[in-house]
Amino acid sequence: MSLFRPQVQQMAGYTPGEQPQESGWVKLNTNENAYPPSPRVKEAVQHVLEGRLNIYPDPLATEFRKVAAELFQVDPDWILPGNGSDEILTILMRSFVEPNELVSAPYPSYTLYETLAEIQGARFHRIQLNPDWDWPVADALEVAAKSKILFVPNPNAPSGNRWPDEDLLSLIPTQGVLVLDEAYGDFCDRPHRCELLKAGFGAKIVVTRSLSKSYSLAGIRFGFAVAHPELIRGMRKVKDSYNCNALSLAAAIAALKDQEWMLANTNRIRATRDLLVMELRKLGFEAVDSQTNFVWCTHPDGEHERRYQELKQRKILVRYMKFTLRDGILDGLRITVGTEDEIQQVLDALRVIG
Ligand SMILES: Cc1ncc(COP(=O)(O)O)c(C=O)c1O
Repeated sequence: MSLFRPQVQQMAGYTPGEQPQESGWVKLNTNENAYPPSPRVKEAVQHVLEGRLNIYPDPLATEFRKVAAELFQVDPDWILPGNGSDEILTILMRSFVEPNELVSAPYPSYTLYETLAEIQGARFHRIQLNPDWDWPVADALEVAAKSKILFVPNPNAPSGNRWPDEDLLSLIPTQGVLVLDEAYGDFCDRPHRCELLKAGFGAKIVVTRSLSKSYSLAGIRFGFAVAHPELIRGMRKVKDSYNCNALSLAAAIAALKDQEWMLANTNRIRATRDLLVMELRKLGFEAVDSQTNFVWCTHPDGEHERRYQELKQRKILVRYMKFTLRDGILDGLRITVGTEDEIQQVLDALRVIG
């Protein structure tokens, strides 16, 4: 007999992307930033290391919330930091969802939402997107209305497209919250700053942000929520007291303060991304116009797994993804936008592999 709760016993668990521990890889599989974080991050972390590691960090992350609030032009009580934005997603699930309540998300999208719903014992509905990655309006409206949480990654992963925020307003659940997961928000052509929250929808919308991508801090683990203080107050009760450590807090504060560095990196990545999309199309791929630091592509011959394997043999790691749709399987390659040199390497390899 298993000692685990039935939900845990039965679930497969989330599978993160491969993290090879030896060097020599062109690593384009988990949407990290190819460029280093601001030099100010190192200084700030060094300062903490030389200081008092024996003391607990600020459980309220006062300084971080002040800096983030300034950036998003809200009050600090609209901000809740976490150990990566994944932790914020966990906090949301634990804060709002009772077992058997309905949680939904577009599909294909970030598969962690479904895993978190399983852990919580919630029901999960995949709102299957149209082949052009747009919403099936009638299905979406019906499911969203009944959901306790509707998670929407915007821009979406793995496709990289972004839906206009205003179009998502009709999907706010009647008795629940709309979570706009903006892990890739800083890579958009028109970066945004939570306009919807300020436009009066605050008490029904939570925006989540990550420092893993645009700020090059995946190894530090830091993300945060922006939401109406009424929601943040409740969510704070659910988090671990010291969910952000002294080093990650110092790194996050320094990173957010150096907007110039972040913008230079994201601009560079956006330029490389547009080149990657163009070149993939020349090679016969269908590539989605991306608003993120990755590109989703498929080939009419359907040989995505072969290409993934052959790239891997050349020590180039991209993500092969496979989704079960109502009417068949959708698979393809998701390629993180690395440096210009890395992207040339993957393109050169694809030219040889075919
Ligand atoms: C859509 C989406 N949301 C959230 C995350 C998690 O980001 P973090 O590193 O901040 O936990 C990812 C990571 O790949 C993601 O793709």
